[in-house]
Amino acid sequence: MSKSFQHLIDLNDYPIPWWNKIIKLGHDIKNNPHKYSDVCKGKIMATLFYEPSTRTQMSFQTAMIRLGGNIIGFDNPTSSSVFKGESLKDTTKVISSYSDVLVIRHPSEGAAKAASLTSDCPVINAGDGGHLHPTQTLTDLLTLVEEKGRLHNLVVGLCGDLKNGRTVHSLCKALSCYPNNQFVLISTEDLKLPAYVKDVLTVNNCKFTEVLSLDEAISELDVLYMTRIQKERFPSIEEYLAEKNTYILDRKKMLNAPRDMIVLHPLPRVEEITVEVDDDERALYFKQAEYGVYIRMALIDTILKSKKGLQNLVGQTYLGVSCSNQRCITNSEHYLPKSFSGIGDIVECEYCDERVLLK
Ligand code: NCD
Repeated sequence: MSKSFQHLIDLNDYPIPWWNKIIKLGHDIKNNPHKYSDVCKGKIMATLFYEPSTRTQMSFQTAMIRLGGNIIGFDNPTSSSVFKGESLKDTTKVISSYSDVLVIRHPSEGAAKAASLTSDCPVINAGDGGHLHPTQTLTDLLTLVEEKGRLHNLVVGLCGDLKNGRTVHSLCKALSCYPNNQFVLISTEDLKLPAYVKDVLTVNNCKFTEVLSLDEAISELDVLYMTRIQKERFPSIEEYLAEKNTYILDRKKMLNAPRDMIVLHPLPRVEEITVEVDDDERALYFKQAEYGVYIRMALIDTILKSKKGLQNLVGQTYLGVSCSNQRCITNSEHYLPKSFSGIGDIVECEYCDERVLLK
C-alpha cells in the first residue's frame, strides 16, 4: 500500500481555493524572490523526463535552485536503467527514496498517476502523453492574472492541435471552473477537443463553439492560446503533414485582433506563429514561460510543506476489462491495477480518462 502524499496529477483533484493559493504565492514570489531563497534548503527534487522538454524541465530545476534546494534526475531515458527495461514502478520506487519530490514527464497517458502509486514522495505530473499538463496550466493561470487581471469573464480561443495538446486539456478543465468563461475551439475536424474535456465544459455550464477559421474568430477573443501540432502523437507522418501549417498566426491576422487581446503559447513554437508577431506587444508567450518559474516555485514549496495527502486509486476493477486507449500506461506497464470510475455501461479509466465500454 503506497503512502498518501500531496501529488499533483490533475489540477481538478484539488478545489479552486488551492489553485488560487498557489497563484497568489506565485505572484508574491515574482515580486519578492529574496523571501523564498532558502525555503527548500536541504531538499532534493528528482526530474524523471522520459520525453523531450526544455521549459518544463529547466523551469522546474530553476525553481528548486531558486528555493535553495538541490536537483537530480535524467532527461534522456536511454542513459538511465529505463533503457535496460526497468519498469516505471521500480524507477519511481528507488528515485523517490532518494528525493523529496518527484517530477515526471512520460509519453504514456496516466503515467504520473501510475508513478504516484508506488512513490515514497509526492509526484508532480509534468505532462503525461496527450492527456494533461497541470503545471503548464498553473503557469497559464498566473499569466492571465498578471496580464489580464482576472480568471473569469474571458473569451478564450484555443487554436491548433486540440486533440493531442495536453496543455489545452488541462487549461480548459481549469478555466471552466471560473465564472463566465467562454471557449472558441479553433481546429480542423480531426484535431477537435476530446469528448471527455468537452463534457467538463458542459458540466460546468461553459459556453463553447467549435470553428474552423482563426480569421473569423480572432476579433472576438480576450485570449488566443496557440498550440503546436503534436507531431510525435500522430500515427503516421502523412497524417501529421496533412494538419501541419493549417493555422499560422501572422501580422496580418493580428490586425483583426482586439487591442487588448493577448497571445499565449505553451511553447515550443514551430511554425504556427510567425516570428514577426513576437514584436507585437500582445504576444506574451515568452513572458508566460518566465511566469512558469515563479509558479513552480510556489507549487514545490506548497507540496513540500503539505501534510495532507490524496487518496490513490478510488475506482473499481472489472474482471477482464482493460483500457481501450493504447497510449494508456496500463497497456504498457501490465502489473498496474486497472481502475475505472463511474457507473453504468460506460466507465472512465482512472489513469487516462478514456471512456471504456463494459461488455
Ligand atoms: C508543451 C508540452 O510539452 O505539452 N510544452 C510545454 O510543456 N511548455 C507543449 C508542446 O509540446 O507543444
